Amino acid sequence: MVYITRIEKFNAAHKLWVEQWSEEENQARFGKCSNKNWHGHNYYLHVTVKGEPDPITGFIVNVKDLSVVIKKSVVDHLDHSNLNLDVPFIPKGMQPTTENLVKVIWGQLVGPVAELGGQLHKLTLWETDSIYAEYYGE
Ligand code: NI
Repeated sequence: MVYITRIEKFNAAHKLWVEQWSEEENQARFGKCSNKNWHGHNYYLHVTVKGEPDPITGFIVNVKDLSVVIKKSVVDHLDHSNLNLDVPFIPKGMQPTTENLVKVIWGQLVGPVAELGGQLHKLTLWETDSIYAEYYGE
């Protein structure tokens, strides 16, 4: 089994906030991510697909096609968006943490990647250069 990874990036705003909590408590729990006038992150999404290389092309999937699928299914919706308000496939009221976002992005990608002939193995979503979440679909 071989694993191939495509990296895409997007920039987006969010706010982590619990309405029932005071501003002080939100600030204490979420830090800068609770900024009431929003703030942004430069996200990096690593999409890992597994399979056996095709005997003729040597590819598991064509990574250019994979890039198009990631852009169409995920990046075009998230890039320069407000993750709390703008994105139809992000459930209203869901905290747009890296952990929650990576699960939502999996739902967007697993079908289209299968249509390319690959099997989605892992997503890694980097929120900063020192924080990332991984998801294997379970
Ligand atoms: Ni944040």
